[in-house]
Amino acid sequence: MISKTMQDAINAQINAEQYSAQLYLAMAGAMEAKSFQGLSKWLRVQAAEETGHAMKLLEFLLDRRGTLELQTIAAPPSEFGGPIELFDEILKHEEGVTAKINALYELAKSTKDHASEIRLQWFVTEQVEEESSVSLIVDRLHAVGDKGGAVWYLDKELGKRAKE
Ligand code: FEO
Repeated sequence: MISKTMQDAINAQINAEQYSAQLYLAMAGAMEAKSFQGLSKWLRVQAAEETGHAMKLLEFLLDRRGTLELQTIAAPPSEFGGPIELFDEILKHEEGVTAKINALYELAKSTKDHASEIRLQWFVTEQVEEESSVSLIVDRLHAVGDKGGAVWYLDKELGKRAKE
């Protein structure tokens, strides 16, 4: 059975993942409103991934006979800047998520919760991938700027992202 401390921490992370999904959906709406349909699609796929992260944690918690305590999901902002500003914000957001996952992993290690430690390794690896893919987009956007024709090409490319 999972400890109360770890249970609370996992419940909090479920909420954080659900907030990420909300945030990406809000961003998708904002990009759609600016006619960046490819970015909007990319962000909607990302939102679905975040829901998947929440589900993985939820399933783990229940498998460990923990108590699921869902919390209110904070409302995300509705106004964002252009693509550059938005992806800069995403990178910052994902770095914050990485810090949360690392803290959770540390908690599992320090309390000798081996099952949680092993489960959380997937999330540690996933964050490396998330930060890497977002950094690449940030670099490309900064290289082309978000006003010229190249950004529309990038928009089309990113719109090819499919659900994994
Ligand atoms: Fe669930 Fe984007 O980290």
